[in-house]
Amino acid sequence: MRAAERGTSVLKSGVKRLLGRAGFDIVRSTNNRGGVDDFIPFEAVMRAARAAGLSVGDYIDEVMNGTPGATQSTVDELRALGVFEAKPDSVLEIGPGSGRYLEKTVKECSPDRYEIYETAAPWANYLVDTYGVIAQPTAGASLAPTPDGSIDLVQAHKVFNTLTFLSACRYFFEMARVTRPGGRIVFDVMTESCLDPATVRAWASQGGDGHDSYPAAWPRRTCVDLFAALDCRLEAGFLAPMGFASTEVLVFKKGT
Ligand SMILES: C[S@@+](CC[C@H](N)C(=O)[O-])C[C@H]1O[C@@H](n2cnc3c(N)ncnc32)[C@H](O)[C@@H]1O
Repeated sequence: MRAAERGTSVLKSGVKRLLGRAGFDIVRSTNNRGGVDDFIPFEAVMRAARAAGLSVGDYIDEVMNGTPGATQSTVDELRALGVFEAKPDSVLEIGPGSGRYLEKTVKECSPDRYEIYETAAPWANYLVDTYGVIAQPTAGASLAPTPDGSIDLVQAHKVFNTLTFLSACRYFFEMARVTRPGGRIVFDVMTESCLDPATVRAWASQGGDGHDSYPAAWPRRTCVDLFAALDCRLEAGFLAPMGFASTEVLVFKKGT
């Protein structure tokens, strides 16, 4: 075997090993135009987390994604940036899944009202029962049940790298609409900063057919310019781990 082939084969087996241990076991949806709106299986993940003696969030970070402490480090960065300083009273999260960010957000700012838009019913029900959040009807990429300018902090984590371009940009317009003047919008996307050639090769080397819309990339500039046009100014951006790769978390503040 030539050296270059050996290199590729080592990379492939490394990526497979990481993905075997990591990467969400995302269940393909039957009704969302090829996306991944069913998320990981509720019962199986809960059982496995219990057996490992870990919270479901820590189980996903440590065992499924191979990135122990990743959720907490993102929340720590957001705290350092002052996102929780204004004590947001109303929070809206798109695609909270297991609630690993939700749990830590509630600890940071104890909001009076926490709305979620989540397509995976078992996880949405679990979050309602466990944290008393409000599960809004979730269809397409609409936040229609939430009034204009009513939310202090709108967030989504590891969601816009799984949705189609159209779903994500429709959600972006909605996020800007529901955020109150002076409120924050926080979400991560797979930007140019996350896509050096070695990482692109690692993505391409994954086995199987993939999950259609996942992983989706977004040009950073497009996000920043779009939100600027919606009166939301970029305050900060930082990288957050995602299995063997990363996403970039963007923090916007809506004009007052
Ligand atoms: C990769 S998971 C991330 C979950 C969670 N935020 C986390 O980081 O652990 C993507 C989440 O988005 C949800 N989802 C998929 N399509 C959605 C849609 N159109 N609207 C709201 N949530 C959606 C999935 O069910 C899943 O919970």
